Amino acid sequence: MSAFLEVRDLTVTFRVGSALKARLQGEPPPDLTAVDGISFTAERGDSIGIVGESGCGKSTLAKAITGLVPVASGSLHLDGEPLLAKRARATMRRVQMVFQDPSSSLNPSLTIEKMLSELLRVHRIVPVDKVADRCGELMELVELPRNLLKVRPGRLSGGQRQRVGIARALALEPDVLIADEAVAALDVSVQAPVLNLLNSLRENLGLTLMFISHDLAVVRYVSDRVIVMYLGKAVEDRSTSELFDDPRHPYTRALMAAAPKFGVKKAPGESALKGEPPSALKLPSGCRFSPRCPIAAEVCQQREPDLTGPSPIQRAACHFAWEARGVPS
Ligand SMILES: Nc1ncnc2c1ncn2[C@@H]1O[C@H](COP(=O)(O)OP(=O)(O)O)[C@@H](O)[C@H]1O
Ligand code: SF4
Ligand SMILES: [Mg+2]
Repeated sequence: MSAFLEVRDLTVTFRVGSALKARLQGEPPPDLTAVDGISFTAERGDSIGIVGESGCGKSTLAKAITGLVPVASGSLHLDGEPLLAKRARATMRRVQMVFQDPSSSLNPSLTIEKMLSELLRVHRIVPVDKVADRCGELMELVELPRNLLKVRPGRLSGGQRQRVGIARALALEPDVLIADEAVAALDVSVQAPVLNLLNSLRENLGLTLMFISHDLAVVRYVSDRVIVMYLGKAVEDRSTSELFDDPRHPYTRALMAAAPKFGVKKAPGESALKGEPPSALKLPSGCRFSPRCPIAAEVCQQREPDLTGPSPIQRAACHFAWEARGVPS
């Protein structure tokens, strides 16, 4: 039986710079591969965290799954239906996204009620005479008082605006909710209540939640499983508890070592993450983490490691991942 959400070899490229100039110089067109062959599956009610440094392709992956950027290759299926085919628009509605900055993603001139009711009408989610009731129910779902329906986003606090952003996504009755840095713009004191809300919505509505963040602590709080991305690739895919107890990829270990609260002890020869990732336009040969990897060996420059492991949620892309604590013997 196929999985509820199936992402296979998903690749997204962006044309950057001048194709003409490249042609005149006899070079290939300057394409940047922002997402490079990502595959994973998820079931109803799963909560998957996606973590990695800025620029590693997290938002592009989210937008590709939501249909906001075109996919260069690969496939996406939801409940057995292809998500990429043109005729799949109704299916696309079943995947909704909550964005980082609630202020810029809400129309400042519309009241919350107007915004939600337009969505419900345009997408014919409920009969016209039920639209007002449904707006009230959506406010209840995100734990906001109904009287805020009458105000414009400018009158709301950051946390309230993000709740409205969640209500807007829920208005379309999605099966998959992708939250991209959804609490990054909020005060720390407001983050936990919004994360708790996402968790309870997942449980109560059976949503599949993809939670994207550069912040390991936040991802750990809401996810049962975590995919670590580096330069467009998934480099580790584990259950949350295993990942935090026993990270296997040197990149994951370095991310955790940079945040002392995770208590990851450095293996012999390991150091905290240094420098910036290389440009995705000029990838190193072999393992793309090798220029920054404290335990890189000769094989690492020669051969790119596959994302493999003992099970589909025990995978890491490092030649030495499944040797003792990721250290080459
Ligand atoms: N529309 C675009 N055009 C060109 N390059 C892009 C575009 N969107 C993202 N990128 C590039 O793709 C890579 C991944 O970006 P992004 O998905 O935003 O990463 P993240 O969300 O992890 O910070 C980066 O190198 C970024 O500069
Ligand atoms: S394959 Fe080599 S360079 Fe890449 S992460 Fe593993 S040890 Fe480091
Ligand atoms: Mg992003």
